[in-house]
Amino acid sequence: MQIPITKRLLTAAEMIGCEKILCDIGCDHGYLPIYLIKKGQIKAAYACDLRDGPLKKAAQNIAAFHMKESIQTVKSDGLHELKDIPLDVISICGMGGRLIAEILERDLPVAYRAKHLVLQPMSEIPFLRKFLAEQGFQIEEERLAREDRRYYVLMRVTKGKEQHTNEVDYVLGRKLLQKNDSLTQAYFAKETERFQNILTARGGPENSPELVPVIAELKKYAKNII
Ligand SMILES: C[S@@+](CC[C@H](N)C(=O)[O-])C[C@H]1O[C@@H](n2cnc3c(N)ncnc32)[C@H](O)[C@@H]1O
Repeated sequence: MQIPITKRLLTAAEMIGCEKILCDIGCDHGYLPIYLIKKGQIKAAYACDLRDGPLKKAAQNIAAFHMKESIQTVKSDGLHELKDIPLDVISICGMGGRLIAEILERDLPVAYRAKHLVLQPMSEIPFLRKFLAEQGFQIEEERLAREDRRYYVLMRVTKGKEQHTNEVDYVLGRKLLQKNDSLTQAYFAKETERFQNILTARGGPENSPELVPVIAELKKYAKNII
């Protein structure tokens, strides 16, 4: 049976790597831990969700893939019920960046226990990057996944001091700016157009001075890759 996992979650799976125990927060269908167990990348997982509906769906999928021995469902608001659970890696995918930050902030000791976290915010990514730096997390790697015309940002985070802490780094992601593959180039070309449109709509640089260094950095990026 095929696991219906998308490029976005496949990228998360790659970034999770090989670890013993995964806690997937907001598991919904549960396909991320199911995929990782099937691939043999992890030994066990906790598929966690706040709501009964997704947990039921995850439990049905886990049973359909005969993985009841290795994946346990947990009803948990964020990391709250994981206080006594051994874990190596935490994934939080498909939620807003502010919600991810709130989940981590509410149970920081649990988050700090993970060797690393894989986060895939759907929105408010600069807010999340800044929050992580302020709470003593370091972004080790950022990657993009593209599905149709939509780009998703994924980050692999560990406890540590963030090196890149200026506003432009929070907005664009220094680890992404260090990449020059075609996917990243296309993403930043789209971001440049988006920021320029915002600047025009707001009536120019004098009305949005905070966007000026962002657009300058994007132009520098485009120049450096040619
Ligand atoms: C859009 S789905 C994402 C599912 C999956 N992680 C993915 O990326 O495809 C978001 C899931 O997060 C769950 N969720 C929202 N807030 C949560 C919280 N505070 N704690 C745990 N789960 C939460 C929702 O119930 C939902 O199942």
